[in-house]
Amino acid sequence: MIDRRQFLKIAGVGGASLLAGDIVSLVGGKGAVAASNLSDKFFPDLDIALKATPSEVPIFPGNPTGVWQFQGKLIKGSRENLANIEGSYLGPIIRAHRGQKVRIRFTNDIPDETIVHWHGLHVPAAMDGHPRFVIPRGETYVYEFEVRNRAGTYWYHPHPHGRTGPQVYGGMAGLFLVSDDEETAAGLPSGEYDISLVIQDRIFDNLNQLVYLSGNHMEQMAGFLGDRILVNGQPDFILPVATRAYRLRLLNGSNSRIYKLAWQDGSPIIVIGTDGGLLEKPVYRSYLMLAPGERVELWADFSRYPVGKETAIVSLPFDAGMTGVGRMGRGMMMGGGIMGGGQSLPNGAGFTVLGVHVNWSDKTTLSLPENFSTIKRYRASDAVNPGYPRTFGLFMRHMTWTINGRTFQMNAVANDEKVRMETLEVWEFINQGGSMGMMGMMDMPHPMHLHGKQFQVLERGGVRHSGYVDEGWKDTVLVMPGERIKILVRFEDYPGLFLYHCHNLEHEDMGMMRNYLIEETTGSA
Ligand code: C2O
Ligand code: CU
Repeated sequence: MIDRRQFLKIAGVGGASLLAGDIVSLVGGKGAVAASNLSDKFFPDLDIALKATPSEVPIFPGNPTGVWQFQGKLIKGSRENLANIEGSYLGPIIRAHRGQKVRIRFTNDIPDETIVHWHGLHVPAAMDGHPRFVIPRGETYVYEFEVRNRAGTYWYHPHPHGRTGPQVYGGMAGLFLVSDDEETAAGLPSGEYDISLVIQDRIFDNLNQLVYLSGNHMEQMAGFLGDRILVNGQPDFILPVATRAYRLRLLNGSNSRIYKLAWQDGSPIIVIGTDGGLLEKPVYRSYLMLAPGERVELWADFSRYPVGKETAIVSLPFDAGMTGVGRMGRGMMMGGGIMGGGQSLPNGAGFTVLGVHVNWSDKTTLSLPENFSTIKRYRASDAVNPGYPRTFGLFMRHMTWTINGRTFQMNAVANDEKVRMETLEVWEFINQGGSMGMMGMMDMPHPMHLHGKQFQVLERGGVRHSGYVDEGWKDTVLVMPGERIKILVRFEDYPGLFLYHCHNLEHEDMGMMRNYLIEETTGSA
């Protein structure tokens, strides 16, 4: 077993192991090698050089924090297409319009293998960032795809097998926002009134450096939990607003923490979008469950408040169901004398996520549209397996999280993981929770994510709360202990090997991930 210092060194997130300043020019040198891989039949509207690199950012007073970071440079496109978040370790926000052709020349400049996945985007298999496409330091992978998604909040992050958790934790993540004509017509708050908020949790040591897992297997089983909540890479985040309506896009970019989001004063949350873009119409919730990988978009109208008002978005306490693993993980950590305060803020603890200060008056009145878009609901009766869902049991086996008892193998796909192109299927995720015995040791939430597809939630069973929004398109769905969730997913356009996995990044890294294969139909189906 490796100790914490060694692990951090391998993960590259420890101060001493950082190679800050080792920044290679983006398009020169190594980028030039990539030029030979560019397709001469692809004419991009947007061309970006993106690199992953060690860097340092000021997060707290004193020492800067060593991170791994995505940095971008525009080769073709306009300023709005690529926006840095000032002072944040997060990667630049990439913005594209539906139908645009995007080229991204990704260069790996971190001392580890990596590859980038465009979470939520519907792209060909070779563009999806499967771990089989990892590149070593110094190499470039060229992505070329057309944006076919609806307007919405998508994101990008690394996806090397077994290393996604530490790399995302080290800072590698960014937003990919898609716009379309339907969204423009909806007349939602835009420009500086359209705000993205990436929520993550971290642990810092007393030199302001990131602390990840100790290497303890039980910690990995539970997933990483930090004791500092960061929004857009900043602790104690305050959002200054005017007395008017805003569009707030929230991404849970945490490794394994789930948030039960609510307004501090109990006002209803007005949801206008989910993973795959805008809903048809607003829906109201008293709170929202937001699991790793999920996004939600809110309509937040501060016009009823006086200037000077302070409010907040909080995470309410909830039962994360990790009775066994959670408690045992904590016990072993303390027993083992491992530092880091992560378990002082367990999954399901209550805390403030971000403050909102109403700082200035703005007379703009915007009313909440009654309709944003149209969503064609899939019908279970149109599926190839309406009464016989393809089932995926989520449970522990040999002290590892599995899907149907299996763990990830780079190129393997089982017979029951093969689907046919141009078909609609019912899939069912079953969180078997404590049903395996051993005193509930296996009770953990699992946010399940499918690559390449947006799906619809058909039915949930065993649900004991009301914080889900299933009215729109989803690519990640939280399956709490004891829950069974049926989704409808249609396989179209792109054949090949794609991933589905738990988006608790420590579960994913330990193999709670599998391939599924979309096989081309040959006219007989
Ligand atoms: Cu956001 Cu395969 O993940
Ligand atoms: Cu999981």
